[in-house]
Amino acid sequence: MNKQEIYNKIHPFPAKIKERYLLCKPGSKKYTYHLVLDLEGSGLTYQAGDSLGVYPLNNKDLVERTLVAAKAKGDELVTDRNGQQIIFKDFLTSKANITSFSRKFFSTVTEKQADPQKKIALETLLADENKEELKLYLNHHEVWDFLEKNQEVTLAPQEIAQLLMPLLPRLYSISSSQLVVGNEVHLTIALTRYQTMGIERQGVCTHYLCYDCPLDQPVVPIYIQPHHGFTLPESSDASLIMIGPGTGVAPFRAFMQERLHKKHSGSNWLFFGEWTKSHEFFYEEEWTQLEKEGLIKLQLAFSRDQDDKIYVQHRLMENAEEIFQWLEKGAYIYVCGDAKHMAKDVEQALLAIIMQQGPFSDEEAKAYLKKLRTEKKYLRDVY
Ligand SMILES: Cc1cc2nc3c(=O)[nH]c(=O)nc-3n(C[C@H](O)[C@H](O)[C@H](O)COP(=O)(O)OP(=O)(O)OC[C@H]3O[C@@H](n4cnc5c(N)ncnc54)[C@H](O)[C@@H]3O)c2cc1C
Ligand SMILES: NC(=O)c1ccc[n+]([C@@H]2O[C@H](COP(=O)([O-])OP(=O)(O)OC[C@H]3O[C@@H](n4cnc5c(N)ncnc54)[C@H](OP(=O)(O)O)[C@@H]3O)[C@@H](O)[C@H]2O)c1
Repeated sequence: MNKQEIYNKIHPFPAKIKERYLLCKPGSKKYTYHLVLDLEGSGLTYQAGDSLGVYPLNNKDLVERTLVAAKAKGDELVTDRNGQQIIFKDFLTSKANITSFSRKFFSTVTEKQADPQKKIALETLLADENKEELKLYLNHHEVWDFLEKNQEVTLAPQEIAQLLMPLLPRLYSISSSQLVVGNEVHLTIALTRYQTMGIERQGVCTHYLCYDCPLDQPVVPIYIQPHHGFTLPESSDASLIMIGPGTGVAPFRAFMQERLHKKHSGSNWLFFGEWTKSHEFFYEEEWTQLEKEGLIKLQLAFSRDQDDKIYVQHRLMENAEEIFQWLEKGAYIYVCGDAKHMAKDVEQALLAIIMQQGPFSDEEAKAYLKKLRTEKKYLRDVY
């Protein structure tokens, strides 16, 4: 009998993308996709709340642009950080971060810059008092346009290979329960796109998964990243308050699949938010069906369906009394999605609800939430 290979972060499994479709309806200006990957033959197992680690490849055109800016052909042999020889083009495709670069790379180019005016401009950014400006500059350039602006500088492919940062895996919350989908893993992925220096930039992994990667070919290196407590409670009758706007809804789809499969009797309350009901209500049929069957309470916050923004925290505030009753009866609160703004604002709303409904002082409300956190009843998976 063949021994089952063990796949992990160091030895990822080459998965196939079986299915890939837009969750946004035609006319939406957002691009959020549902992906189904095949785990057949991997022996990989996952739990609700786990994430999937994905090693992406850099986009072909971006690699070409980087090669041109580096004045390289691509067939030069370089040695990677593990001491293995690889051709430069492959190195840039699979091993190097070419969408951002370090201060070290910046200072090496500065040292070699022969144009006096350009050199002074670069040196100015390296001065201690210009740390913020340098940070901004690094955030606003990719390797190719930095090299293009400094075409007087020539670095050997090996030198570039040593200076570039490694291409790191990205994590995605798993949006399926393995008890229900078997050898599949589902993901909910928002395409990352932004502009810097007037140039349209693409998120590496989201473009790889949603566009560049061919379907039905075992080429996506993946591994399971176990949750750190962000999972279903053991008790089947526990009530859940799930707050997941945007792609933050992903783990709650997994939670619900699993709870229904296991016939958990606990109540479920989902707070979902997106731009518009008509275009970005992800998994609408699934949620509304569950609501019809009385298996979930659904609270929706569509931010762009009216002039004023309505966010999930507004819906929480509108339901303050009931939320507090649920908490008092031992409900678990889960928050998933944007860490920068949403998770902070949701926490403020929860504190306001606890203060108002307690009624409690600011300090007492903080202690109430802290206790929930200590008891692992206030759980967050934010990014
Ligand atoms: C535990 C966890 C779970 C996650 N789950 C999901 C999920 O379910 N679905 C999902 O879609 N994502 C999820 N993410 C986020 C995901 O891991 C990636 O970070 C995201 O998909 C972007 O990856 P990318 O390679 O496409 O973009 P990258 O190439 O990494 O680009 C993103 C970077 O671009 C830069 N950037 C972005 N916008 C701007 C801007 N406006 N101006 C300047 N610079 C900018 C920033 O430096 C940012 O870090 C999760 C993250 C974690 C940690
Ligand atoms: N840098 C970028 O340009 C950019 C763009 C999109 C997503 N992202 C990041 O990508 C990740 C996933 O994004 P996503 O597409 O799944 O969804 P998202 O951007 O988090 O948006 C989902 C919903 O949350 C709303 N929202 C915005 N600010 C909020 C706040 N402070 N509190 C509560 N809700 C808020 C959005 O409304 P409005 O958008 O109408 O305000 C939208 O209705 C997040 O980490 C997000 O920060 C970054």
